[in-house]
Amino acid sequence: MKWIKFGATAVVLTLSTQVIHAQNLPPLKVGMMLPYSGTFAALGNAIDNGFQLYVKELGGKIAGREITYVRVDDESEPSKATDNINKLIKRDNVDVVIGTVHSGVAMAMAKVAKDTGTMLIIPNAGANAITGPLCAKNIFRSSFTNGQPGYAMGEVAAKKGYKTAMTITWNYAAGEESVKGFQEGFEKGGGKVNKMLTLPFPGVEFQALLTEVAAAKPDIVYSFFAGGGAVKFVKDYAAAGLNKSIPLVGPGFLTDGTLEGQGEAAQGMLTSLHYGDNLNTKRDNEFRLAYAKQFKLQPDVYAVQGYDAAQMLTIGLLATKGDISKKDEFEKAVVAAKVDSPRGPFTISKAHNPIQDFYLRQVVGKENKVIGIASKSLADSARGCNM
Ligand code: PHB
Repeated sequence: MKWIKFGATAVVLTLSTQVIHAQNLPPLKVGMMLPYSGTFAALGNAIDNGFQLYVKELGGKIAGREITYVRVDDESEPSKATDNINKLIKRDNVDVVIGTVHSGVAMAMAKVAKDTGTMLIIPNAGANAITGPLCAKNIFRSSFTNGQPGYAMGEVAAKKGYKTAMTITWNYAAGEESVKGFQEGFEKGGGKVNKMLTLPFPGVEFQALLTEVAAAKPDIVYSFFAGGGAVKFVKDYAAAGLNKSIPLVGPGFLTDGTLEGQGEAAQGMLTSLHYGDNLNTKRDNEFRLAYAKQFKLQPDVYAVQGYDAAQMLTIGLLATKGDISKKDEFEKAVVAAKVDSPRGPFTISKAHNPIQDFYLRQVVGKENKVIGIASKSLADSARGCNM
């Protein structure tokens, strides 16, 4: 599929030949199930923006079909997730669901999508199970698996010679899987994680945990937090004076889309992620400029994942001439594609997760500057996925 390798312009050209076949199809109803409130609100909005930007670049249509949106605020609340997605599917009759950020919510969504056969593209939540036991022909992810950035950061920390570590995170799937990934990478390289501290999601009462870190004096601390919680954690860590003696590292979520709020407290921090602010490729520069122009905001990893969810939907729909019920053809096209992402091109594994590079980044001013590659072409294990 040569066309997708050459970016949005080539997609538009291909699209014009597909319009004839798609002429009689009604608008495509896209259900956006994202956090528009709470600690992950900025993440949900960035994903929504990124998705819309790609659709706009295609002239508002995918494979000749107009796009209409139905939006649900999932509040990052797992107990409401099954009802929320069922409403989108059964009451609103959406053709495809895009969502979500929180792993607990996304696992409930994946169960419903698997049972009903509804097309689901996950633009963030990294729960292992989604590309493991919950994997399905109609479920795709445009983001990452939780353990990936953690593993990459663990390898880097061990290589830098740190011997002991503590981890701090929210005690839900994403936090647990992220710190486990770090532990694997760090201990494989000769380090030892001595203690794993947690607090309930989306809590921000960090003081008692920081007191424990100060007493234990590990060489390094690894933390998974994101959004509003990440802003507060990084500021509290610095306010306690810990960043002077015990470096704080994490997956890039700890400093992505948050630097405005973290300011001085985040300076110099090392993180690992599949995106950075200074890739300086033609593709990324064009994306960043278009995003900033449209939304008066700098894009972040979440915006890229939303944009790429729209790209993956487009790849599948072009292959099926706009008919989303043709799941075999849709899937075959997405798995065969090279997605021309602002993060750099990536392919999709058989379990439907991106196979991609993880960058090592350092916070300089308001940017997560890429300073190297932490892990090349990292794929998730897809343990338990039988498709
Ligand atoms: C998740 O719950 O999977 C999650 C949430 C926020 C992030 C990354 C992962 O930034």
